[in-house]
Amino acid sequence: MGKIIDKANQYIQEHKSEVDSRYREKFHAMGPIGWINDPNGFVYYKGDYHLFYQFYPYGSVWGPMHWGHSKSKDLIHWEDLPVALAPDEPYDKDGCFSGSAVVADDQLVLMYTGFVNQDGKIKQTQCMAYSTDGITFEKSPLNPVIADSHIKGIADIADFRDPKIFVKDGRYYAVVAAKTRDSRGQILLFQSDNTQDWTFKSVLLEGTAEQGIMWECPDLFQLDGKWVLLVSPIEMKAQGHAYKNLNSTVAFIGELDWESGKLSVENYHEIDGGLDFYAPQTCLDAAGSRIMIAWMQMWQRNIPTHDLGHRWAGMMSLPRKLSVKNLRLCQEPAPQLYDYCETVKEWQGQITPDHPLEFNAITGSQQFIELNISKSYSWELRYPLQADGRASISLTYNADEQLLSLSRDSFGYAIKGLENPVLNSRSLDVSDLADADLEIEIVRDTSSVEVFINHEKTMSMTFYEKTDANRLSLRSQGKARVQKLSVSTIRVN
Ligand code: FRU
Repeated sequence: MGKIIDKANQYIQEHKSEVDSRYREKFHAMGPIGWINDPNGFVYYKGDYHLFYQFYPYGSVWGPMHWGHSKSKDLIHWEDLPVALAPDEPYDKDGCFSGSAVVADDQLVLMYTGFVNQDGKIKQTQCMAYSTDGITFEKSPLNPVIADSHIKGIADIADFRDPKIFVKDGRYYAVVAAKTRDSRGQILLFQSDNTQDWTFKSVLLEGTAEQGIMWECPDLFQLDGKWVLLVSPIEMKAQGHAYKNLNSTVAFIGELDWESGKLSVENYHEIDGGLDFYAPQTCLDAAGSRIMIAWMQMWQRNIPTHDLGHRWAGMMSLPRKLSVKNLRLCQEPAPQLYDYCETVKEWQGQITPDHPLEFNAITGSQQFIELNISKSYSWELRYPLQADGRASISLTYNADEQLLSLSRDSFGYAIKGLENPVLNSRSLDVSDLADADLEIEIVRDTSSVEVFINHEKTMSMTFYEKTDANRLSLRSQGKARVQKLSVSTIRVN
């Protein structure tokens, strides 16, 4: 034991300089090399944000999961730390799957899923690891702490994972993903007085057949007087423009009866209307705000940095500050981002189809773009746009349908998934926004855009441009008044 983690750390040190940095993000959390997926153990501990993640250092594809580890003071600059967990015990020998963290008596406590695949027989159990320095972790000798006996007659040990631990009224709780016999999502609630001895409390919530065949990565918290349960359903059925990705992310919002341990749902909706967003996890920041971060990628699609041999794949979303308004989960960029924005261009006035607004030669690939415009105009924003005016990412707004569409169709390296037909654009209904104006904020890092709409809705998307594209154009369908279009550089070095 211990050798597997040392081997991983040594491999990273010896090979990380071989990673091709062409498409690497500058202010989004990433692994130093290899494959990453879900954020894990997102927590504020002794003055730093710690972010762990599903990590396979040896290739840019999913493999036996380790927990990668990074920390940050401002949620913008991330520093790599040594691997925190490696699959080196009989109960996690095939992977340390997703989980979470809590601070208890000054210790940083991790809870994760031990994954074992014995000749095709899968076992997923819940395990603990402890640290006093926030860097090296000791797995509990009592692992696994939640196993077969806890869920006898309730759920199947083959699909039982991703514990999110939290404290409420001096007691520890964990929500864990499972599935019903007829393949619907199911979230189980467990409780403990000490993080070691756990008892089953309740089935917190079960999904319908439309809501996916399994829910992954639950998170449960109270915000603005409501309880919010986040889950990531596999194969949720599309409803209108929503849930078009193979895997979705959903917020269930309502009241929680702690006697029965049941969530009564008053509203639910997709969390992000883009193409790349999965398995979000939250923590409380230093100021007590709820911050969410997600894997900004999607299962079952090719990732160009892997195809191109760049030796890395996967990135995290921007940390986002959450609130609940009118039974909806609202998102805005973590406020720290604005400290790094320097406005370089700002414009207001009228545009017509013949006189679009154009900004040429925008320098750098880290941008913050703001567009304020009445909801009554239809328009198309293209950014980044190639110098020859052809290929671009586009964000279009159709005023009649009140629909925003984000597309990477035919821009950059092809990305294909299991969705049929191939999905490279998504549309988002914004008719339920109360305001008369759209206030759009676009955060671009090298190979991602995250669109924030009226401090509420979001659309996230990755892209891998083939040739440098550094123009922006805004074209309206008729005459349109632009209240504000600004471009800021995000200076992070
Ligand atoms: C979600 C997920 C989790 C699992 C992890 C394995 O993306 O499938 O359910 O713990 O990834 O890497």
